[in-house]
Amino acid sequence: MRIVMIGAGYVGLVSGACFASMGTEVIVVEKDPCRVAALQAGRIPIYEPGLDRLVADSVRAGRLRFEVALDRALPGADAVFLAVGTPSRRGDGHADLSHVFAAAAELAAALPAPTVLVTKSTVPVGTGRRLAALMREIRPDLDVPVASNPEFLREGSAIEDFMRPDRIVVGTDSVQAEAVLRALYRPLNPAGVTLLCTGLETAELIKYATNAFLAMKITFINEMADLCEQVGADVHELARGMGLDRRIGPKFLHPGPGFGGSCFPKDTQALMRIAQDAHAPARLVETVVSVNEARKAAMAGRILAAFGGTVRRRRIAVLGLTFKPETDDMRDSPAIPIVHRLVELGAEVVAYDPAGMEQARRDLPAEVVYASGAASALAGADGAVLVTEWNEFRALAPDWLRATMRGRVVVDLRNVFDPAAMRAAGLDHHAIGRPAPH
Ligand code: UGA
Repeated sequence: MRIVMIGAGYVGLVSGACFASMGTEVIVVEKDPCRVAALQAGRIPIYEPGLDRLVADSVRAGRLRFEVALDRALPGADAVFLAVGTPSRRGDGHADLSHVFAAAAELAAALPAPTVLVTKSTVPVGTGRRLAALMREIRPDLDVPVASNPEFLREGSAIEDFMRPDRIVVGTDSVQAEAVLRALYRPLNPAGVTLLCTGLETAELIKYATNAFLAMKITFINEMADLCEQVGADVHELARGMGLDRRIGPKFLHPGPGFGGSCFPKDTQALMRIAQDAHAPARLVETVVSVNEARKAAMAGRILAAFGGTVRRRRIAVLGLTFKPETDDMRDSPAIPIVHRLVELGAEVVAYDPAGMEQARRDLPAEVVYASGAASALAGADGAVLVTEWNEFRALAPDWLRATMRGRVVVDLRNVFDPAAMRAAGLDHHAIGRPAPH
């Protein structure tokens, strides 16, 4: 089979490389010639563990290539996937569909045969139908089958998520589209993966509802963590006790400084707008959005309290800047409001992140000093704030921390360290939702 993937962004590259590794011939079309040149030279413009090898292997096997021109890619394609960006529109929180419709219009003009058009980008409910209407308008001679095939990839484990998905969702009214997508995903079937076929609108909504539900789960456990602190309960034990109920499940119950990233903040906002426009307001989602924003803004206050009410001229090591580990992505990272506020309050911030420092320089205040490793960030610091739970921070021993830092305060916003061991080492450890050991 042969497919065209429009957009060499995160979703397009990962999905394209994964399809190619399963035996499909894939051409990734990308408007930015520099990006295409980099990819053709074997340089991967995004950080995703394992992607460079997957791309290199498929390119070598002749199943994956990159093009700027759409018309060179289209002949013989069974399906064209739209994997272009849908950022939040400035001002109203709706998803910005300009890239999606621009790509679809260009495609419609060039489409040689009724190739299946698939949206992989996260698009508001009703977009698939609008795309079908656009196709009919531009190409009345073709009956272009349209499908929605949302992705559920997590940054940092996207390849694993693609190859071993919990489910595959295909939304379409077209028998041809369903058959093509079933054939494309057939190599995953020996693993017994469910391919759920629904209508277009349902598939589009499954994507938003899934992300919003996960965001709600995180927001719930964050609120429970705050409550635990007030009543002397332990949020880890609480999450375990809840998660053992199979109706709830143990995942996405880790408290922290609030969710960030390129998906949850944008998708919860967009779902909120979709529901408002449909006169079926999603009040829970609205609350999740505002509670999470407030939480991110409140984290600096928590740090201030740990330092006894002032951070002026205190040297604070900030460990981890990205919105989560195994990515260089800083989008909507809780580190951004935290560091801005600490600097405003007069702290001397020394930051370190294993992958995100290049992006961080754009998002953080100019006063921030960047360290080349955790050890140099911590050396002589009055205290440390752990924002992102990279594995290399988990490995830091409490005694070593005590010996390396000048001060004793450790604000652990991801509950990475063992409170009892930290205390035994003489550190003033502040966890989330866990009582201080006696
Ligand atoms: C998320 C979804 O998990 C993917 O299924 C989805 O495909 C993707 O969005 C998308 O729509 O493209 P991602 O944003 O890469 O993936 O990252 P997650 O691992 O879901 O984490 C999101 C945020 O929630 C992070 O800031 C993370 O630190 C936070 N989080 C997650 C918690 O605070 N606690 C948890 O228990 C889990």
